[in-house]
Amino acid sequence: MNPRAVAVAGATGVVGRQMLKTLEDRNFPIKSLKVLASERSKGKTLTFKGEEVPVEVLSEDSFKGVDIALFSAGGGTSKKYAPCAAKDGCVVVDNSSAWRMDPEVPLVVPEVNPGDIQKHKGIIENPNCSTIQMVVVLKPLHDAAQITRVVVSTYQAVSGAGSAALNELAEQSAAVLNGEAGGHSVFPHTIAFNCIPQIPQKDAFTENGYTSEEMKMVNETKKILGDANIRVTATTVRVPVFNCHSESVNVETVKKLTADQARALLRQAPGVIVEDDLDNQLYPLAVRATGKWDTFVGRIRDDISHPSALDMWIVSDNLLKGAALNAVQIAEYL
Ligand code: A2P
Repeated sequence: MNPRAVAVAGATGVVGRQMLKTLEDRNFPIKSLKVLASERSKGKTLTFKGEEVPVEVLSEDSFKGVDIALFSAGGGTSKKYAPCAAKDGCVVVDNSSAWRMDPEVPLVVPEVNPGDIQKHKGIIENPNCSTIQMVVVLKPLHDAAQITRVVVSTYQAVSGAGSAALNELAEQSAAVLNGEAGGHSVFPHTIAFNCIPQIPQKDAFTENGYTSEEMKMVNETKKILGDANIRVTATTVRVPVFNCHSESVNVETVKKLTADQARALLRQAPGVIVEDDLDNQLYPLAVRATGKWDTFVGRIRDDISHPSALDMWIVSDNLLKGAALNAVQIAEYL
C-alpha cells in the first residue's frame, strides 16, 4: 500500500481514539495525519506512534490534500463536513448513521461485502456496532443454508454511548454502592446495576414502537447481506458493562444446519472465533473480548422449538470491530 494522507474527525472521542490506536496497531501506511475535533479541543494534543499530534478544529477546509478521512464525530458533523471532504477528493469512511440506508452509499463489513467498497462515490458507511458483529457470524450461515429470519436481543456496553456515558456508569456505580441515588444525565434512567431497553438514550422510539437502534439492526442486516427477504426483529438493551456488546441470536434457515455444522462453518469464517466448550464453561464473554479484533461466538445449539433454527451468543468489542477496526479495515481495502 502507498502511504496515504489520513484524517480522523472526532479523534478525541472514545471511537476516534480507538481509530488512532487501530491505525497504529495495524501499521497503516500513513504519509500525514490530521486529528480533528471541535473548538472544545483546541490546544489539546493526541499521541500517535509516540509523537504528539496537535488537535485541529474541524472545518470545511480540513480535507484539502487528505486521501482518507475516518469520521466519528456524530451524525450532524458528518452531514455537514463529509460532503466537503468528498468534494475535495477525499474518501470518507463514516461511523455515523447519516447515509447508511442510502442506496447510493456502500455499507460495508469487509468480511461480508468487500465488493461494495468500490461502488463508493466519496463516502462509505461503517455499519451499526451491533449489526457488524452479528453479520460476520450470519454471513457463512446464510451462504450455506439461506437465513430466513433472525431474532436478536442485545446486551450493549455503555462505551457505545461515548465518554460521558462511561463516566456516568463509573460515578453512578460508586454512588449507589455508597448508598446514594447517583444522578443521571446521559441515560434516561440509572444505568448502574440496571438494564435499559432503550438505545439510543435520546429520541429513540420510532412510529412502530421499535427504537432506531433496533431498526438499524433490521435494515442494515438486509443491506449488508444483500438479501431484502431476511426477516429480522431486534430488542436492544443497554447494560452496565463498560465495553463489548453481547447478543443472543436466533437464526432460522431454509436448509437445516445442525449446531455441529454451524460450528464447523464458523471455525473457517474470517474474523470469527468459536468459543464453545460447555465442559469447560467456555463461551464468549465481554471481559475477555475487550481489546480483541475478532468476533466471538458460542453457546451454539439447535433451537428445540423449531425444526430449522439455531441459538447462539455473539460477543465483540463494540469500539473495535463494531466501529474503529471495521473503519480501518475499509480504509485498508481503499
Ligand atoms: P470534542 O472532544 O472536541 O468535543 P464522544 O462521543 O466519545 O464523546 O466523542 C465525540 C467526538 O466528536 C469528539 O472527538 C468530539 O470532539 C467530536 N465532535 C463532536 N461535535 C463536534 C463538532 N461539532 N465538530 C467537530 N467535532 C465534534
